[in-house]
Amino acid sequence: KRLIVTIDGPAGVGKSTMAKRLARFLAIPYLDTGAMFRSVAWKLGQGAWEWPEADIEKALSGVEYALSGVGEESVLALNGVPIGDEIRTEQVGMWASNVATLPVVRTFLKKAQQRLGEKFSLVAEGRDMGTVIFPDAPHKFFLDASVEERAHRRFLQLEAMGKPADLKELEAQIAARDHQDRNRAVAPLKPAADAVVIDTTEMDREQVLAALKEAVA
Ligand code: C5P
Repeated sequence: KRLIVTIDGPAGVGKSTMAKRLARFLAIPYLDTGAMFRSVAWKLGQGAWEWPEADIEKALSGVEYALSGVGEESVLALNGVPIGDEIRTEQVGMWASNVATLPVVRTFLKKAQQRLGEKFSLVAEGRDMGTVIFPDAPHKFFLDASVEERAHRRFLQLEAMGKPADLKELEAQIAARDHQDRNRAVAPLKPAADAVVIDTTEMDREQVLAALKEAVA
């Protein structure tokens, strides 16, 4: 039987890192659904969120996702091409948040995500994994942390990718993106009623990982 573990939470909280590590522990793939929204935003381009719905639908009709590998080695590909680091900027994050307000995009990605969940056991991370996409998942987590701490974590992550950013600017960008994600009409960011909520502000990675492992064991 396939196992689905969901990890939701705001930007920069460390969902991807935890999802990768937990997926390795469970020897299953992890699914970065933020990368799906980012890749759609990247593919459609700036301003696409103002296009007529039919044009967006048409542009998405040729898009297919494939997943391979397990743990950190999980690879998500769009039409056969692995999604790369070009989507990992705060600017593309905001474009992703903009297209993520559109029902046409959410409906499209919901199908793609649920299809992957029928094929694989997954640690699925995003904003609505526990609330909308995998409501029956047996293990649901919601990670949170202060905006200052999240900006700092994202700062270190971008730096490690060779994309240095300004910490104060990052904090403002993350706060704006969270605000939009929490207040949109469709699938707003919030914990599922049955999610385990963990405030990670004062925790290091190993402590968070230990808490997740213990809960799924
Ligand atoms: O997690 P990440 O920062 O890569 O996500 C980028 C954006 O995609 C989020 O700010 C959010 O607006 C959107 N998203 C979403 N639902 C998901 C995953 C991401 O709306 N499941």
